[in-house]
Amino acid sequence: MQALAESHRPGQRTVPCADAPSDLWSDWLLHRRHGGDPAYGEAVRRAVERYADRVLDGARLRPDMVLADVGAGEGLIAFRAIDRLGPSLRVILTDVSQPMLRHAEDTASRLSVRSQCRFLRCGAERLEGIEDASVDVVATRSVLAYVADKQAALAEFRRVL
Ligand SMILES: C[S@@+](CC[C@H](N)C(=O)[O-])C[C@H]1O[C@@H](n2cnc3c(N)ncnc32)[C@H](O)[C@@H]1O
Repeated sequence: MQALAESHRPGQRTVPCADAPSDLWSDWLLHRRHGGDPAYGEAVRRAVERYADRVLDGARLRPDMVLADVGAGEGLIAFRAIDRLGPSLRVILTDVSQPMLRHAEDTASRLSVRSQCRFLRCGAERLEGIEDASVDVVATRSVLAYVADKQAALAEFRRVL
């Protein structure tokens, strides 16, 4: 997971892409959450990694499965899952934030796992682009709190599973 940790080094500026300028989520997750303080950023990273590992411990993933990481943000769950399971795991990263998807896609390329990943811009309430019964595990961390229609999101999780 060292490569992932390096790729998420807090305080590292990300260059906004023309097709994905910053938004509220990317401003917060990539910059404001740690206030530009690398030491605090490391502490935040270590804390959220512990939560992500608890999610994955409960997910009972196996090789060849398909995992949907809903509201993937930086791809914390998705990339840690790939790190655990290896190259046969396929991962769908969804998010409402185009800049966060772009950031996660860059990270996937840096980690050489891009071919295992799909990136979909959609809300948890409507997982557009994911077929019925095409996913083995839906994981989501620190996202549902921000979803207005939680019932719709849970119905979508059920649909894709
Ligand atoms: C606190 S971050 C968590 C990111 C990631 N799951 C993690 O564990 O680090 C919340 C994420 O949820 C996304 N988000 C917010 N509202 C959403 C919605 N309705 N559907 C899907 N994702 C959403 C944001 O863009 C952001 O990336």
